[in-house]
Amino acid sequence: MAQVDLRHWRLGLVGFGNVGQAFGRLLLEAEAELRERHGMTVAIGLLATGPGGTVTAADGAPPGGGIDLRAALRGEIVDERPSGRAGALAAIPDAPIDALVEMSWFDPVAGQPATSHVRAGFARGAHAITTNKGPLAFHGPELRAEATERRLGLRYEATLMACLPVLALRESAVPVGTINAFEATPNSTTSFVLDMMAAGHGRGDAVAEAKRLGIAEADPSFDLDGWDAAVKAAILAQCLLGRDVRLADVERTGLDAVPDGEPAAAAAAGCRVRLVARGSAAGPVRVAPERVPAAGLLGGGQGTSQALAIETGLAGRLEICLVEPRIEQTAYAVLMDLVALNRDVSSGRIRPPQG
Ligand SMILES: NC(=O)c1ccc[n+]([C@@H]2O[C@H](COP(=O)([O-])OP(=O)(O)OC[C@H]3O[C@@H](n4cnc5c(N)ncnc54)[C@H](OP(=O)(O)O)[C@@H]3O)[C@@H](O)[C@H]2O)c1
Repeated sequence: MAQVDLRHWRLGLVGFGNVGQAFGRLLLEAEAELRERHGMTVAIGLLATGPGGTVTAADGAPPGGGIDLRAALRGEIVDERPSGRAGALAAIPDAPIDALVEMSWFDPVAGQPATSHVRAGFARGAHAITTNKGPLAFHGPELRAEATERRLGLRYEATLMACLPVLALRESAVPVGTINAFEATPNSTTSFVLDMMAAGHGRGDAVAEAKRLGIAEADPSFDLDGWDAAVKAAILAQCLLGRDVRLADVERTGLDAVPDGEPAAAAAAGCRVRLVARGSAAGPVRVAPERVPAAGLLGGGQGTSQALAIETGLAGRLEICLVEPRIEQTAYAVLMDLVALNRDVSSGRIRPPQG
C-alpha cells in the first residue's frame, strides 16, 4: 500500500560491531517495506565506531542522503580526524539525528559511556533505542522518566532475548492490567553449555565448544556466573513488573552451583538444567540454575533457545519462545523498536522526528 505522507527518521548509530552491522544490513533489506508498509524513510546522520571514529552526515541526512550505509558496511566510512571513543559523545549534540541507536560496548560497572550517549541524545531531542544493557540495568527508571518528560521514546527490545517480543508483549498483549510474575531463560550460553554437559561432555569442553561456535565470549564468566542473566532479570522486572530493580538488587547464582553430573542426571529424569530468571510483583528477583521439565516451556528449547512466561492479572499465563536466535534476530529487535517509535509518533505519544 503506498503511503502519501512519509515520515523521515535520521538515525545515529553508536557502535558498529556485530549487532550494528547486522542492523545496517537489515535496514538496507527492509528499506522498501519500511517505506511502503510503515510510511518511514531512514537515513544515517551519525556513525560512531570504535575503529573508524565518529562521522556525521555533512548533508544533514535528508531522505535519500546521509552516510552511505553500504560504504560503512565495507568499512570505508572513517573519521579523517580520529576522535577515539569519546567522539560519539562530542558529536551527538550537533548531529542530524532523530533517534540514537546505542550498540556500543557494555560496561558492567556503571553502564557508561552508553548512558551518557542516550542522555546526550535526549538533550538534543533524539529518541533512543539501545541494544546495550548498561543504560537500563544501571539507570533504567531515571532514563524512562526523562524520556517521558521530554515526550521521547526509549526502546530496548534487543537487550533482553533478541527479538523475542518482551516490550511488544507488555504493550500489545497486556495493554491493561498487571503482570504479577515472570520466569525466563534469558542466557543462551549457559543453556548451550548445560546441554553439552548433559550429553556427556566435560564442563571445560562444553565451554570451549561454545567459544569456538561464537556463542560464548573469549571470557565467558559474564554468562557462566549469571551476570548476563541478572542484568536481563533487572530489565525484565522494570519492563514487565514496573519495579525499580537494578543489577545490584538481583540475587544471582551461576553455573558453579551445578555439580558436574547434574545435567546428565536431570536428563535421565526427563528434565534439563537451565539458568532461570524469576521475578514477582513484591518478592526478590533471582537468577539461579534449576532443574526444569524438558517437556515444559523453560526446558523445552534446545541449545540457545530462550523462553519467557508471564502471569498476568487479566490475560492469564502467556508463554513465548525464540528458537535458536542468531545475531540477525538481535538486529531484528532494533528494527522492531524503530517501527514501534514510528507507531508511537502516529499515536501522539512521543514527538515526531524533525528530519
Ligand atoms: N552480540 C549479541 O548477540 C548481542 C545481543 C544483545 C545485545 N548485545 C549488546 O549490543 C552491544 C553491541 O554488541 P556487539 O556484539 O555488536 O559488540 P561488538 O561487536 O564488540 O561491537 C561494539 C562496537 O562498539 C564500538 N565501541 C565501543 N565503545 C564505543 C564508543 N564509545 N563509541 C563508538 N563505538 C564504540 C566497539 O569498538 P572497538 O572494536 O574499538 O571496541 C565495537 O566496534 C553490546 O552492548 C552488547 O552487549 C549484543
